Amino acid sequence: GASWKLPDHPKLPKGKQVAVVVLDGWGEANPNEYNCIHTAETPTMDSLKNGAPEKWRLVRAHGTAVGLPSEDDMGNSEVGHNALGAGRIFAQGAKLVDIALASGKIFDGEGFKYIKECFETGTLHLIGLLSDGGVHSRLDQLQLLLKGAGERGAKRIRVHILTDGRDVLDGSSVGFVETVEKDLEALRQKGIDARIASGGGRMYVTMDRYENDWNVVKRGWDAQVLGEAPHKFTNAVDAVKKLREEPKANDQYLPPFVIVDENGKPVGPIVDGDAVVTINFRADRMVMLAKALEYENFDKFDRVRFPKIHYAGMLEYDGELKLPSHYLVSPPEIDRTSGEYLVHNGIRTFACSETVKFGHVTFFWNGNRSGYFNQELEEYVEIPSDSGITFNVKPKMKALEIAEKARDAILSRKFDQVRVNLPNSDMVGHTGDIEATVVACKAADEAVKMILDAIEQVGGIYVVTADHGNAEDMVKRDKSGKPLLKDGQIQILTSHTLQPVPIAIGGPGVAPGVRFRQDLPRGGLANVAATVMNLHGFEAPSDYEPTLIEVVDN
Ligand code: 3PG
Ligand code: CO
Repeated sequence: GASWKLPDHPKLPKGKQVAVVVLDGWGEANPNEYNCIHTAETPTMDSLKNGAPEKWRLVRAHGTAVGLPSEDDMGNSEVGHNALGAGRIFAQGAKLVDIALASGKIFDGEGFKYIKECFETGTLHLIGLLSDGGVHSRLDQLQLLLKGAGERGAKRIRVHILTDGRDVLDGSSVGFVETVEKDLEALRQKGIDARIASGGGRMYVTMDRYENDWNVVKRGWDAQVLGEAPHKFTNAVDAVKKLREEPKANDQYLPPFVIVDENGKPVGPIVDGDAVVTINFRADRMVMLAKALEYENFDKFDRVRFPKIHYAGMLEYDGELKLPSHYLVSPPEIDRTSGEYLVHNGIRTFACSETVKFGHVTFFWNGNRSGYFNQELEEYVEIPSDSGITFNVKPKMKALEIAEKARDAILSRKFDQVRVNLPNSDMVGHTGDIEATVVACKAADEAVKMILDAIEQVGGIYVVTADHGNAEDMVKRDKSGKPLLKDGQIQILTSHTLQPVPIAIGGPGVAPGVRFRQDLPRGGLANVAATVMNLHGFEAPSDYEPTLIEVVDN
């Protein structure tokens, strides 16, 4: 088996407390009115940027640097935290599904065979996020799956859509629904009874995460499984267009709807003998539904009916829970993460965020693995997020509370590593509310200050970085970088970006002569793990991406 013992670093001491701060959605971009980080008062982050040039740099946080298919893929929290924690670049879900579809192997696997067992007498249901955002799912993958299932004997198919507007522009849902409708029409031409059966906006229906609000999953369950929703339509394009006409309506928060036939009967509830595939490859926002679909014993909400189905995820969503037990594509095997190594080497670890990002600094950081490696050495603290609101209403979120917990953990001297995620710039950036995002960035900056002050007091070290960009650019741009107009209007960018992110190291505990190397200009998030191991006094495993730092003799 693997040897967990890490070699001593030849020059760097052990025993320094290290704070690892991840600002979610904090990228580096040109200063202008759409750069909320630039607009906001951020004296702490500014001082890091304008401080010693050998202690601040940018790292890549998107595309192939984090295991995504192409350089056009923006970064996201899953792949960003995976890279930060694992210290290596793994081909991620988006890419693994692409490969399995391109080779056709997806249809030969155990997961699809299990699903196929229902094709003769049952309905195949596909549930998931409908967009080309590439963060949780991708439209073209859904299209290939539909086609492949049709060619392999599916007789009746029902699609349960979740509109996006968060990883893609708001309003783009209509076009995506039209595209799927065309594909379903093509299947019908071939004699397959294929339709959209239900829908709703991703943030209001189904795609909650980390158990922030089970009502979200229940709304989806009622529509998808029970065929019940407050809104009924005979056609999904009409549904999305009509629901978008409500004041303040947007794709992310569309209410649930079901599609009914001419007699008002829902066309696609999930019943005994059916097959269900959740088409998202990313785990965090599918785990709750996966539990509802799979667990015999379940008490998070009243399911009313628990249909006997064959259920598979696009991927396995939790390697520790083995959830779901059937899946179409094997997930990246993110093993030997830095967290696991450090715990084996005696590093006492504290990790904290609020609910909506809690799994990012634990589950994603640890390679999509829930739970502790060693509970005696680790403590993970979750601060309950506000639920049932959009975060532009409370843009400060729980930044202060997270910082206080981190401060207390540092000052207690009970931990060697104190790791936090500050969600503000990402969660508020996703609302597209520029003024609120400015407030959010300021709040995150203040939280960083509190943590850095504590590190100062204990003679420790800080590493401040981010997982991907978001708040630094809030407008859709053309290739030349100019805001892209639609009907004379700018389009607000709710999604992440392709921008690099900053990383700063410092604090009284940093040994003299430590500085960022000059020979890794293309360094990315995966280089951070080895860097942090060094700051704890260890050499990183040889197959880790190289450290960003060197120690020069003065
Ligand atoms: C979400 O799930 O909120 C977005 O799709 C991606 O945001 P995250 O990658 O920052 O979590
Ligand atoms: Co985000």
